[in-house]
Amino acid sequence: MVARFPWQGTAVAGVTPLAPGEPGLLRLRLADFPSLSGAFGSVRLGFTNLNVGGPLRPFIVSKDGDAIFVVSAVCTHASCVIPAFSSTKTSTCSCHGSRFSANGSVLRGPATEPLTEYEATLEESGLLTIVIPEFTGFQVAVSQVMSASVNRVGVTFTGVRGVEYEIRSRTHLADPGTVRSFAVVEAGAANQTIHRGTGAEVTLFVDRDGGSGFLTVAAKARTV
Ligand code: FES
Repeated sequence: MVARFPWQGTAVAGVTPLAPGEPGLLRLRLADFPSLSGAFGSVRLGFTNLNVGGPLRPFIVSKDGDAIFVVSAVCTHASCVIPAFSSTKTSTCSCHGSRFSANGSVLRGPATEPLTEYEATLEESGLLTIVIPEFTGFQVAVSQVMSASVNRVGVTFTGVRGVEYEIRSRTHLADPGTVRSFAVVEAGAANQTIHRGTGAEVTLFVDRDGGSGFLTVAAKARTV
């Protein structure tokens, strides 16, 4: 299956060295987002279509001078999704009119609580790392395929319904990795690169390459 949107970030749950239960880390390059290149800019990102519920809801990355704010796009009044922040550095919820500032604080009700803030770190290189707490508990198991006819490993995980995943091999955590094609049955053709989560556990089979890296499962984030 071919991805319909360009990749703009990956939330990675590593097989190792991230420990099971640690939150996923979304890494993206600010330079990939033209709307973040000016004095103030804001972009809304997500893993699924806007109207899909579930644990991975959209969030907003804003840049105000040297400051970076990453907040949930879910309105704290009744959970409608708010737009990215406008040039006035505000976002107004279309459901009942709550207004927020780019750091998530409430400017006007009926909402009374600020937007949830995500921890984020910007490196000098322009690489932004965002902690995605909802990925806590997203665990990946790798097993060796015991078969004389195939030399593969099985990568087992439960994908969130509607989220698209890739398998990547990486040499270290900051390495964005190389996309690996996989088969959905042990001895099948390894000719797929995207798995769309169904909410059920799945095992995907990757050829062993003999390299020294490790395999990760990456979820696709995009502007929504
Ligand atoms: S859900 Fe946003 S103002 Fe009510």
